Amino acid sequence: MDNTNIITITDLTRIFKNKTGWFSPTEEVTALNNVSLKIKRGTIFGLLGQNGAGKSTTIKILTTLLLPTSGNVLIDDLDVTKDYKEIRKKINFIFGGEQGVYKRLTPLDNLIYFGNLYKVNTHTLKKRIPELLNQVDLYDVKDRLVENFSKGMIERLQIAKGLINSPSILFMDEPTIGLDALSVRKIHGLIKNLNDHGTTIVLTTHYLKEVEELCSSVAIINKGNLVAKGTPDEIIEKYATKGNDLESAYISIIKGDS
Ligand SMILES: Nc1ncnc2c1ncn2[C@@H]1O[C@H](COP(=O)(O)OP(=O)(O)OP(=O)(O)O)[C@@H](O)[C@H]1O
Ligand SMILES: [Mg+2]
Repeated sequence: MDNTNIITITDLTRIFKNKTGWFSPTEEVTALNNVSLKIKRGTIFGLLGQNGAGKSTTIKILTTLLLPTSGNVLIDDLDVTKDYKEIRKKINFIFGGEQGVYKRLTPLDNLIYFGNLYKVNTHTLKKRIPELLNQVDLYDVKDRLVENFSKGMIERLQIAKGLINSPSILFMDEPTIGLDALSVRKIHGLIKNLNDHGTTIVLTTHYLKEVEELCSSVAIINKGNLVAKGTPDEIIEKYATKGNDLESAYISIIKGDS
């Protein structure tokens, strides 16, 4: 495996300015505070933390949807603030929980639409779309309206959508939220398969078993600060108190930091 860093985050800070009321002063929320992190090419990387920790903010910055307040982010040596057009060709993202696909369209029409949006040429799309539909087990329902689909089917369609431009990095924000055990297993199979074929995956999740199952490296953020990073085994070794699992380590990290 190529061992270089595909993502380098240096001193990343993101501050949101919220208006608390019509006449009230603006309140500043530091969603990310001086975070530095490296993600190796070809890995499945997990970003963990409590609700509001700053995970989605990180994903949005890495996917060029949100600008940093300060600091520096390189994706494959390209800068998120300057080279976003180039970066967008190489990446894709999936936000869990039924967002991001058109429910009044069929899976086929969704994929044609997003394929065109990513400027994938028609010849490639004609080959790629049936392959993707098969890969996510939706070929047989490709002509049905998405509005009647289950959460698991929609999540699998999101994955097909996320692969429409053959990205080298796929970002997934809570990809298995609200899914049943069998649907989760299918999604995990897809993620592993993609990774086996060389795609770097960066995901956020609240499910620590999912992290143990999938991720070779993790980072834990708490209230915008990076508080731990390493392989799941390293983190367990260093922080687990009761039991020998990531959940125990995670809880002691978060409790120790608050
Ligand atoms: N667009 C925004 N405007 C103002 N504040 C925001 C915005 N987006 C996020 N925040 C704030 O930034 C902080 C981090 O939010 P973020 O969504 O990154 O957390 P998260 O780790 O993804 O949480 P969750 O697990 O609940 O998804 C929170 O305090 C949140 O309220
Ligand atoms: Mg989030």
